[in-house]
Amino acid sequence: MPSAIHSDIDNIPNASLHLQVTAQATAKHPNDILVILLDTDALSGLPTTLSPTTQQAIQTSANRAGFTAKLGETLPLYQAEQDGFEQVLIVGAGTLNQLTAGQAQKLAASIIKAIGERNTHAMISIEGIPDTVIEPFALALANKNYHFDLYKTKKSTAKLTQITLQTAQADELQARINLVNATHIGQNFTRHLGNQPGNVCFPEYLAEQAIALAAEFSDVLKVTVLDEDQMAALGMNSFLAVSKGSERPGRLITLEYTGKADQSKPVVLVGKGVTFDTGGISIKPAAGMEDMKFDMSGAASVLGTIRAVCVAKLPLNIVGALACAENMPSGRATRPGDVVTSMSGQTIEILNTDAEGRLVLCDALTYIERFNPEVVVDMATLTGACIVALGEVVSGLFSPDDELANELLAAGLAAHDRAWRLPLLEDYQELLDSPVADMANIGGRFAGATTAACFLWRYTKQYRWAHLDIAGTANTTGANKGSTGRPVPLLMQFLRQRAGV
Ligand code: BES
Ligand code: MN
Ligand code: ZN
Repeated sequence: MPSAIHSDIDNIPNASLHLQVTAQATAKHPNDILVILLDTDALSGLPTTLSPTTQQAIQTSANRAGFTAKLGETLPLYQAEQDGFEQVLIVGAGTLNQLTAGQAQKLAASIIKAIGERNTHAMISIEGIPDTVIEPFALALANKNYHFDLYKTKKSTAKLTQITLQTAQADELQARINLVNATHIGQNFTRHLGNQPGNVCFPEYLAEQAIALAAEFSDVLKVTVLDEDQMAALGMNSFLAVSKGSERPGRLITLEYTGKADQSKPVVLVGKGVTFDTGGISIKPAAGMEDMKFDMSGAASVLGTIRAVCVAKLPLNIVGALACAENMPSGRATRPGDVVTSMSGQTIEILNTDAEGRLVLCDALTYIERFNPEVVVDMATLTGACIVALGEVVSGLFSPDDELANELLAAGLAAHDRAWRLPLLEDYQELLDSPVADMANIGGRFAGATTAACFLWRYTKQYRWAHLDIAGTANTTGANKGSTGRPVPLLMQFLRQRAGV
């Protein structure tokens, strides 16, 4: 039987950092640090806005330390005095006015690292940064300050909680930075859920999180949780074929956000929420299986995006749907070769129980027809093949709709949470042929990310649809492994574009 729900709703950190803007460069607290971004050129002619002592300190220290202001280089100054700040950190920004969003993310990482455990508040002058880079830079500052130490007895001692961005254009920037704060709050939530282990985060836990979110924003958010009996009554046998092997029952969670009073059709976001993917009877190898706790990242990114949207009060109607199940082997688990009828009426021969994401998603994609969607975007850690193709840099984007695909690609570029389009063509559909059912749930060795998308395509004919395969981007692997909170920035940018804010 499932253990009691291990709830820590009250412990979920809202934000790792709060961003502010100001036109005034003055220290408010003795422990404030001023961060000065330096162009490589600046070292030969320092900005005259810097006090003579600061200019002197930079010159001497840069010479002695061999500081050349290359991107990400940091140097604390102990004898500078600037605008009331006794602590000054100089940071190399390369060619400041040509800084790219990717470089800005690296810059943000080196700033947060250099501040380390010393300060609670930092001020960064962003004068001279390209305008398009400001938001990704600000978001990266907040995100780099994230620590997941819920299960560490010894907590992180970093105490940075606020960063103020200083620029003469502070007034114009305020609304945009408010949106960055909202995105960060949502992304943090996604990361927290993604990082939770499978013994804590299971379908009922995600339902509990959605219910708590809806209670927090009860004026704009409505939640519905379907249990397995209700799904059975709807004919969701494909979804149930995944969850039936587990002691932990599946849940289909929907959140309806009303940001617009009129009856305008909603943008529907659908997330794969496999809280742990063992592979089922087609069991995965032991090595690396622990990373399958991240297999609910699609659902977590829907929850995080909805939280961001609520904080930002976006004027748009949005529905989030989370297909939550645990994929386990057991005496009641689905066998390879089993045939099920999905909610859509189409039949599926389940040749591999490890191709479970498409099985939970197809019924969720049919279910959400009832919301009369304007467009539907689904997010799923769907295939290892997508990681092989694209690595951890970009998400795979599939859509039969060029206009929608381009909208999402543009959003990814603007937020620097990029996607790359991969083919979705009828020619691949025959790879899913089954001798006994309407389709098989796997397509052989070739084009694995595309055949998975082709499977979903068969369930999305009633509306405009795009699919993001986030298997490579939702979490990092290796030494610093953890949830990235992607694609919350892309989705938030996409929704802002649609809301015109
Ligand atoms: N959750 C996995 C995909 C995955 C693999 C995500 C590695 C992140 C890292 C998915 O359910 C899966 O197992 N897919 C199979 C499909 C195959 C059986 C057709 C895969 O990619 O191997
Ligand atoms: Mn799987
Ligand atoms: Zn999976």
